[in-house]
Amino acid sequence: MQQAGNLFDAPLVILVCGNKDRAWKNSYDTFQSTEVDASIVTDHMMMEATDLGLDTLWVCKFDRHMVRHVFELPSNLEPINILLVGYGRDEPKSPDRHDKTRKKMEALVCYI
Ligand SMILES: Cc1cc2nc3c(=O)[nH]c(=O)nc-3n(C[C@H](O)[C@H](O)[C@H](O)COP(=O)(O)O)c2cc1C
Repeated sequence: MQQAGNLFDAPLVILVCGNKDRAWKNSYDTFQSTEVDASIVTDHMMMEATDLGLDTLWVCKFDRHMVRHVFELPSNLEPINILLVGYGRDEPKSPDRHDKTRKKMEALVCYI
């Protein structure tokens, strides 16, 4: 699993998958909420872990083909996110730093 991406030697690695057989499907088109649902779950797990005094890191950059192979995932399960849980090595950087590095609203919002 460590070869699938940078997992920072986390003691707990949670692979969050979406189930394409069960995820909501939009009747208007082909949209399916697999990734949305898995990401909401990931977000809630982050908040719960934080509440328990743990640190987390959300990982999207990993080799999904390798993970699928290693865990022999059936085709209906889509690996979406990895959530690392543990205790951070360093003090978290202050969120105030975003005041200097945050992108301007115009760079993020598209007005049409
Ligand atoms: C959707 C998403 C995917 C992410 N993927 C990765 C990743 O693959 N590898 C990684 O090191 N961090 C990843 N992160 C963590 C971000 O790098 C982290 O949130 C960022 O350092 C901002 O932290 P801050 O909110 O404390 O400033 C991801 C975060 C999000 C929201």
